[in-house]
Amino acid sequence: MSTAASTVELPGANLDVSRMPGHWLLARLGKRVLRPGGLELTRAMLSRLAVSSGDRVVELAPGLGTTLRLVLAMNPASYTGVERDEVAVRATRRFLRQGRDECRQGVASKTGLDGASADVIFGEAMLTMNTAEQKATIIGEAFRVLKDGGRYGIHELGLLPDDLPEADKAEIQEALSRSIHIGARPLTVSEWRQALEAGGFEVISTQTAPMHLLQLGRLLQDEGVLGVLRITFNVLRSPAARRRVLEMRSVFRKYESKMCGVIVVARKRAAS
Ligand SMILES: C[S@@+](CC[C@H](N)C(=O)[O-])C[C@H]1O[C@@H](n2cnc3c(N)ncnc32)[C@H](O)[C@@H]1O
Repeated sequence: MSTAASTVELPGANLDVSRMPGHWLLARLGKRVLRPGGLELTRAMLSRLAVSSGDRVVELAPGLGTTLRLVLAMNPASYTGVERDEVAVRATRRFLRQGRDECRQGVASKTGLDGASADVIFGEAMLTMNTAEQKATIIGEAFRVLKDGGRYGIHELGLLPDDLPEADKAEIQEALSRSIHIGARPLTVSEWRQALEAGGFEVISTQTAPMHLLQLGRLLQDEGVLGVLRITFNVLRSPAARRRVLEMRSVFRKYESKMCGVIVVARKRAAS
């Protein structure tokens, strides 16, 4: 499928629309904000991370570089992205400041970065798609790479309420994974907090927003009128993509009251 949004190379170009991961399908349709709480929660996370000009910032899984552009506007000392997908890595590189920033292909669990070399680390819509064991390893890696007192922010898919029965969690996980064609393992808000605390962090704040990734109001907020027109045009001209989007939207709608976007911002405790 070629789209009007394909002026840059996009991940998943060689994959069948009916089977490609939901986030890359949405990207091919022109969507640029691929995280559950939208730009509103991204901005809240960045503001709580209080990035300033002396900070060395690391982003785990920058995807197509939407947050990277927002964070570069905060003028950090340096920016390093670590992203698994090589096409996404190339897509982000055009935004970087020469000599100060880099985006490397790699995994968040083993970044290859020096210990205590970052002041701020964040990642969005990435831990959710990793297993419990991988989540713990990635959080451990963030802990290792941050200096003492460094700030860590995540923006992920949450489940509501905190005492949601295990059977409901399993049902949502299965329905989501089936529709987005990639394992989705969201946690309740208190489980996300606990995951960071178990990794040695002190949680400073959390905030949630409705999971409205494919609802018109959020689409307008995140993508603007032109963006929504472009996405609509692309959806209309590809029946296979339209089927996938409608399927994803119906799963998001069905479980809307039990899902949310969530940010958790934490600080690395100094070793005692
Ligand atoms: C849903 S997209 C979100 C991209 C971006 N953070 C955003 O919010 O727009 C998930 C991204 O995580 C990346 N990813 C998933 N697991 C990863 C891992 N273990 N290490 C590095 N990148 C990973 C994928 O390649 C993809 O770019």
